[in-house]
Amino acid sequence: MKFTNEFMGGGSWLMFNRISKTYDFLNGILSFGIDRCWRKSLAESIYARPGLKILDVAAGTGDQLLENLKYLGACVERAVGVDPAEKMLAIACRKTVPRNTLVTPEWVLGWAEELPFEDNEFDVVSITFGIRNTMDPYKSLCEMRRVLKNGGSIRILEFSLPPFTFVRELYLLYFRRVLPWIGGRFSGDYSAYLYLNQSVESFPQGDEFLEMLRGCGFVQPRFRLLTMGIVTLYLAEK
Ligand SMILES: C[S@@+](CC[C@H](N)C(=O)[O-])C[C@H]1O[C@@H](n2cnc3c(N)ncnc32)[C@H](O)[C@@H]1O
Repeated sequence: MKFTNEFMGGGSWLMFNRISKTYDFLNGILSFGIDRCWRKSLAESIYARPGLKILDVAAGTGDQLLENLKYLGACVERAVGVDPAEKMLAIACRKTVPRNTLVTPEWVLGWAEELPFEDNEFDVVSITFGIRNTMDPYKSLCEMRRVLKNGGSIRILEFSLPPFTFVRELYLLYFRRVLPWIGGRFSGDYSAYLYLNQSVESFPQGDEFLEMLRGCGFVQPRFRLLTMGIVTLYLAEK
């Protein structure tokens, strides 16, 4: 799979810099607030044990890393969020850290394709609505595996198309027509929200995505459909 233009890969982080100010607000509106439940599902899929080092890739405005911290609490020894869009990370930096947390999250500028970390550094790596936005999703997955310890876990949330025809048709109507219009009105960037549905519709999902995980060397890849398949949670281990 090759993505070439700005929106389909390399420069998508520039677009996220542009829409950073309205990103959180629109996430809430466009998902009817369900995005919080999806992030919670990912966090709750992590096996909590003391001394965890966790990394969130394509961390954006930080909500997934903070949700993971909220759920894992004092179990976390180190928490890092990495993203190339400095304006997204600037918002993450200003967010309140959950009270039960003993660590200060580190927000690091960097690309998923070349993570600025040593081999075998983390127990858990997550990526939420980010893998589709990278320049090279396959290389990014392999990088995430590289920085995971043996036995460590990867957790991925990504949009998908519902398998049930009626739900899918309704969803596509919303996704192709309503969402770009609302997103464009509030962010001033219609193309950014048109990109959302185009990139989701062309990205591998379900068994096809599990094949990518296997190809990078992950074991026991599996997935769970959330909200009738609008979002999929992928799980695998190193
Ligand atoms: C849809 S946002 C998701 C942000 C956050 N994970 C969330 O759940 O709200 C996608 C993020 O991917 C980041 N991104 C784009 N290209 C990337 C790359 N090559 N490596 C890592 N992150 C990238 C963008 O800067 C943006 O913050």
